[in-house]
Amino acid sequence: MQPYSGTVFVAGATGRTGREILKRLQHYGVSFRLYVRSADKLKELFGNAIEDFVRIGSLEDEEALKSALEECDAIISAIGSNPADPTAPPPSAIDRDGVMRLAAIAESRGLKKFVLLSSLGATKPDHPLNKYGQVLKMKLEGENEVRRLFGSENRSYTIIRPGGLLNTPPFMHRLLAATGDSISGSVSRGDVAEVAVLSLWNDGARNRTFELIEESEEQQESLVSVFDMLEE
Ligand SMILES: NC(=O)c1ccc[n+]([C@@H]2O[C@H](COP(=O)([O-])OP(=O)(O)OC[C@H]3O[C@@H](n4cnc5c(N)ncnc54)[C@H](OP(=O)(O)O)[C@@H]3O)[C@@H](O)[C@H]2O)c1
Repeated sequence: MQPYSGTVFVAGATGRTGREILKRLQHYGVSFRLYVRSADKLKELFGNAIEDFVRIGSLEDEEALKSALEECDAIISAIGSNPADPTAPPPSAIDRDGVMRLAAIAESRGLKKFVLLSSLGATKPDHPLNKYGQVLKMKLEGENEVRRLFGSENRSYTIIRPGGLLNTPPFMHRLLAATGDSISGSVSRGDVAEVAVLSLWNDGARNRTFELIEESEEQQESLVSVFDMLEE
């Protein structure tokens, strides 16, 4: 049985975690709509098979976003800036303003759930990564807007702050989820994708912000127990 009956809008679907999110939505048979800025990259990654479920547009294009978010029920954002590239838009444009724009339009379109990929260290102004366009500070500002708009009674959010992302297979490690932004480590993109998708329908993820890293190597049947680790 399909665990989630709505349509999930995926922002950043051609990114390295976004692709894993698509795989997990397909695994669970959940309907999706991908929002990507490059039709060529989409074709290169996924072929033609899913083109009916795709909208092309950038995070900056408000009209394209408004139209693409119509008739969706939830959103997962795997969008992220590339602060190491001086020619790319800065974190203020993507991780703060882009996420704020996504949240505002999603809320105005009546979406009920927002799952945001942020980052470990988002609450740490002195973190060395903030030397690059204040990326973690920008992520926190994006998070704050998602919490503000989706923390109300009839909507909800889940904000995942992963450690350093790895292109390793999912379900191969015990995970640690925590609150308070005091852990450090890394985690597979596939595991982050699975936890993001599980957040759509697990009550333990409702209105939660948490960090996520991997611990010892140990094959996992399911990652749903991460939500039990979160303190009330
Ligand atoms: N890398 C890490 O170690 C790390 C650690 C913690 C948290 N995170 C966060 O985790 C998330 C996933 O990271 P990742 O490394 O898997 O991401 P990624 O591969 O860098 O992908 C980022 C995605 O954002 C999209 N994007 C960027 N600017 C855009 C714009 N203006 N309009 C539309 N789309 C835009 C990219 O589109 P294109 O595909 O068209 O380029 C891509 O799909 C991000 O939020 C990242 O900040 C990363």
